[in-house]
Amino acid sequence: MSLTLPSPVLRRLEQAARKAAAAAYAPYSKFRVGAAVLAGSGKIFTGCNVENASYGLCNCAERTALFAAVAAGERRIKAVAVYTRTAAPTAPCGACRQVINEFGPRALIISIGNGRKRLETTLDRLLPAAFGRKNLK
Ligand code: THU
Repeated sequence: MSLTLPSPVLRRLEQAARKAAAAAYAPYSKFRVGAAVLAGSGKIFTGCNVENASYGLCNCAERTALFAAVAAGERRIKAVAVYTRTAAPTAPCGACRQVINEFGPRALIISIGNGRKRLETTLDRLLPAAFGRKNLK
């Protein structure tokens, strides 16, 4: 479901994403990312990127947060906020878009950095003609 959020909820989500970046484990890229997921229940789940010496196993902040939500029993994602310590906002990578699609095909995606620029869009705009569970029926 695509939606606009009441501004206090949006602020809380963005704050949670900022705070989550502090736990980022990014010794290789030094690119620290925090994410916060607003789940169907209204609860917020957070995550950071977790890198690995075997680079291909690095996990993005968005997926860390989303998997935490699903592991807690959530099955619907309303919004995802992503924070990077850069001036320009960063949109979720292709892999994360596909993973978000599973639980929030029309989720609101908010990207923020340390500058004034922000990106607010929806998952279906970031991943048009997505492959999903409908294709397996
Ligand atoms: N990364 C994220 O956590 N989220 C994004 O949206 C883009 C990339 C991470 C993966 C890796 O740890 C580092 O940023 C550099 O790619």
